[in-house]
Amino acid sequence: MSLHVAKRMVEVQRSLIRGIAEASNKPGIISFANGNPGNETYRPELFAKFVAEGFAEEPLTLCKYGNSLGYEPLRNAIKTYMSERWEIDFTRNEVLITAGGQQTCDYTTKVLLDEGDVIITEEPSFASCYNTFRSYYGTLAGVTLEEDGLNIEELEKAILENPNARIIYVIPNFQNPTGYTYSLEKRKAVYALAKQYNLAIFEDDPYCELRFDGEDIPPIKSFDLDGRVLYGGSFSKTVSPGLRIGFLIFDKELETRITVAKQVTDVHAGMINQYIAYRCMISDFSEHLKRCQDIYKHKRDVMIQQLEEKSPEGLTWNHPEGGLFITITFPEGFDTYDFAFNAIDNGVAVIPGAGFYIDQDKPRNTLRVCYSTSSDEEIIQGIDSLCTYAAKWLSKQQ
Ligand SMILES: Cc1ncc(COP(=O)(O)O)c(C=O)c1O
Repeated sequence: MSLHVAKRMVEVQRSLIRGIAEASNKPGIISFANGNPGNETYRPELFAKFVAEGFAEEPLTLCKYGNSLGYEPLRNAIKTYMSERWEIDFTRNEVLITAGGQQTCDYTTKVLLDEGDVIITEEPSFASCYNTFRSYYGTLAGVTLEEDGLNIEELEKAILENPNARIIYVIPNFQNPTGYTYSLEKRKAVYALAKQYNLAIFEDDPYCELRFDGEDIPPIKSFDLDGRVLYGGSFSKTVSPGLRIGFLIFDKELETRITVAKQVTDVHAGMINQYIAYRCMISDFSEHLKRCQDIYKHKRDVMIQQLEEKSPEGLTWNHPEGGLFITITFPEGFDTYDFAFNAIDNGVAVIPGAGFYIDQDKPRNTLRVCYSTSSDEEIIQGIDSLCTYAAKWLSKQQ
């Protein structure tokens, strides 16, 4: 084919995650590769009931065009929830319903970024958002992510080195890929620097409600008094990714820009899916979340116990207090890229850390391991195979 391809798509990098996730679909492979919720958390029968009731009660609303900002009852339910839970002030903020959390990144970037502007991002981080930034010709500047959040000295240095920086990108809770969570101090420090240097913060928070240990920590948006934080939420990890419903909370001053950004992309989120999300929120949402949290706590415990029993000398891992991911770290200098690709032939799929860095070609010594989609037996068997295989690789390298 000889068609010209736009530079914005040429800049976008192939996802290592998708590559492995596809390879891991082969029968017989235990996959810790996909960041999906566990199948047992889905409630298709409830969706079917809501859809039937929605078409009986509001057939025209569900069939016609809707509001660009979203289905009013869902927006109101989110406002009530987020103001009661985190004291977010909706006299100053608005909500846009999106097609998933990924779109909250897209609209934030579309509205705030000019070609060549810089996004300062935690590294490692969610590579699909790197690609969204790239697709708007943004330049990425990475700052080291530590177990309690961004390295604040490095963050200030990156801001000073990049006068055209516009956005700081953070995933504060149970981060993808690491499972790390920002301390309150670091959340405040990131906000203080954004304020000092007049930057926006894109707070990408799809895992917030999956905390199963420790204390809740308020989102940066909750202490944003000057409207610089755009907060991305999603129902993908708590309800269903197939629903494709997320939400962006932003200062009212941006309302016209955000509304037009939505209109030029897809007019508004699908009415049926918004209706399902609304009904989920006003039915037994907190009981449902509690059930998901209990399921993931159990799976994390099974995985960590198996790592403790089977891991060869030299591997370490973190103990996330929520979310779906654990990071396994190999000794300094070990490259997990070939290891992860070969692990598939040994029956287990994991994602090499390199896939979450701006430069995917540099060797990294970490793996992202997702515990949410496997049964106890699969976790036990998969970690056993991974550890046996890791022991072989480590002994080869000595
Ligand atoms: C940090 C982060 N942001 C956004 C998304 C995208 O979520 P959604 O499926 O709601 O678009 C994901 C999905 O894995 C994620 O991990």
